[in-house]
Formats: sequence, C-alpha cells, structure tokens
Amino acid sequence: MTSTGLSPHQLRRMIIGRLLAARFISYLLQGYGVRQKEERKMQKTILVIGGTGMLGQPVSHRLKEDGFRVRIMTRDAQKARKLFDNSFEIVAGDPADTSILEEALDGCYGVHISLPTEVEQQVAEAVAKVASEKAVERISYVSGATVAEENRCFFLSNRKFLAEKAIRDSGIPHTIFCPTWFMESLPMFVVQGRASVLGKQPHPYHWVAADDFSRMVSTAYGSEAAANKRLFVYGPEAITMHEALRRYCSVFHPDIKKVTTMPFWLVRALAVITRSQKLETAGKLMSYFEKVGEGGDPTEANHVLGAPMTTLNEWFEKKKARLGAAIG
Ligand SMILES: NC(=O)c1ccc[n+]([C@@H]2O[C@H](COP(=O)([O-])OP(=O)(O)OC[C@H]3O[C@@H](n4cnc5c(N)ncnc54)[C@H](OP(=O)(O)O)[C@@H]3O)[C@@H](O)[C@H]2O)c1
Repeated sequence: MTSTGLSPHQLRRMIIGRLLAARFISYLLQGYGVRQKEERKMQKTILVIGGTGMLGQPVSHRLKEDGFRVRIMTRDAQKARKLFDNSFEIVAGDPADTSILEEALDGCYGVHISLPTEVEQQVAEAVAKVASEKAVERISYVSGATVAEENRCFFLSNRKFLAEKAIRDSGIPHTIFCPTWFMESLPMFVVQGRASVLGKQPHPYHWVAADDFSRMVSTAYGSEAAANKRLFVYGPEAITMHEALRRYCSVFHPDIKKVTTMPFWLVRALAVITRSQKLETAGKLMSYFEKVGEGGDPTEANHVLGAPMTTLNEWFEKKKARLGAAIG
C-alpha cells in the first residue's frame, strides 16, 4: 500500500490514465486551435491587384490554397474568369481609379500589389490612401532587389522607391518584397527562335521560382515578424543570365544552340527602327542591371518566411510536368 491508500498497481494505472487524459485534452485543444486559426484565415479577404499577371496568378492561387478569400482586381474580367474559378471574387476596373479601388478594398484584410512599373507608383499611392480609410490591416507589394536611394537615378527604380514610400507612410502594417530575377522571366528572353541577352550581363543572380515567392507572400500574411519589413527574396543558386538562359534553352528549346549577346547600341537602333517603346525600355532596364547587379541580403526573409529552395533544374522539371499536364 502507498500513502494514498492505493496499491502500486492502482497508482500506476491512475497516473497513466491521467497522463493519457491530459494528452487527449491537449490534442483536442490543439485541433480546436488549428481549426480556429483556419476559420479566422477563411474570414480574411486579400485583394490581389495585378492578380492575372505572371506573379499575381501564383500568389493568388497560393493565398487561396492557404485558406484566404481572394479577390482579383483586373481590367479584364473575362480574362480573369478564364484563369480563376468561381471560388475567387473578381472586381473589374482600373486600379488607378480610386472609386473602383474603394469598392475593391471593401471588407479586405489585406491587399497585395503586383503591377508593372508603368502604373505601380500611382496605384500604390492610391492604395495607401484608400486602404487607410477602409481599415485594411496589411499591404504587401512587389518591389525589386535593386531599389535603393542610390539607384533612384534610374526612373523605374525611382517609381518603385516612391511606391514603397507611399506604403510605408500609410502607417498600415506592410511587407515589401524585394525579389531578384524570377525563373519565370526566362521564356521572355526567347523571341522568334532566338535566345538573346541584352548586354554582357556579367553578374550572377539568385533566380527565384514564383511558387517559392508565393509561399512567402502567403506566409507573411500570418506573420507578425514580417510586418513593416523590406525583405529580399533570393533563390538558392547564383547563375549568370547567359548560363540560366543556356540551361533553359537546352530543356525547352533544344533547337537553339547558342545564346546571343545583343549590344546596347543595337538594342537602341532596333527600338528606333521598329518604334518599339517596349524594346527601348527593356534596353534601359538591362543596361541598368548590367551596372548594379543584385542588391540586398536575403537572410532576414529566409529566417522569417523560410528560404526559397527551388533550384533551376527543379523548376525545369515542374514546368515540364505542368506543360505535360496542360497538353495531356
Ligand atoms: N520579372 C522579374 O524577374 C521581376 C523581378 C523582381 C520584381 N518584379 C516585379 O514584379 C511585379 C509584377 O510583375 P509581373 O511580371 O507579374 O507583372 P505583369 O504580369 O506584367 O502585370 C501584372 C498585371 O498588371 C495588370 N496591368 C498591366 N498593365 C496595366 C496598366 N497599364 N494599368 C493597370 N493594370 C495593368 C494586368 O492585369 P489585368 O490585365 O488583368 O488588369 C497584368 O496581368 C513588377 O512590378 C515587376 O517589376 C519582377
């Protein structure tokens, strides 16, 4: 007999019983906590401005997968409906139009801005203003890895710099993403059966996969540590543009045997001859990158949101599988 009046056998059974009961209760509570978290997330709506874009699409899908309600803002609702099923809300209109923005932000917990440089500053400034009035709790924005005071002399960098400033000045908790080059950009270097890099581009870049980036954006919406941060997004390997493009072509364009280097004088001449504003801007952009390379340090982003892990070869495999699934 023990001092409790129970036999050692009874005491052991009682202790084990209590331990099991405690485990069971903690398991139930944990499950309840997870469910509550999920339910809370389900109630949160994120507006994705530029949701139909190269980066907006994977981000929107990832947010949805992670339990958020996702509202896509687009100038072309028909196009958006082809890309997103009915579980996504769609708001049609120009994001630079404040009255449409007011409607689009109604009831939103957060807003993600993923727009081309031509419009992003104007839209970021409008979002900062309207979001404050609509009590939006989080803004995320796709800036760039080279955006910095010292690079403001380049007009595209300056626009991003001012877009960032507008978001910061709004006082709304925000996460500004400063990603380096995306792997998804590689197909754009192949035009009419030719793979060309504009300029010599000697700097290596930590190419990042949009899927990894999308996971980071979605994670940031549930992370206090990601609030009011500027986070640099780098993939796991540093590879020059020529090498990344050569490897891309060897998998997706085996007929292209060589990656050519187009000098900037030729880019400028072609832009004038063809009256292509797009080519002129691309030339300026690439000339800028040739000078500045890759900026920033991804350590904090990797720590707070988990490092992007997809290598270029893994991205090729995923892309091949997706293309195969789309055909088959
Ligand atoms: N590519 C890279 O490697 C890289 C690296 C770092 C940062 N970034 C940044 O990532 C951001 C997003 O790039 P992205 O390639 O995903 O963009 P995108 O596909 O070119 O554009 C996103 C969406 O913006 C909307 N849009 C286009 N022109 C517009 C206009 N004039 N007015 C209003 N809306 C317009 C379009 O949606 P609707 O037609 O549906 O309205 C489009 O689908 C950019 O700011 C870019 O600088 C890119």
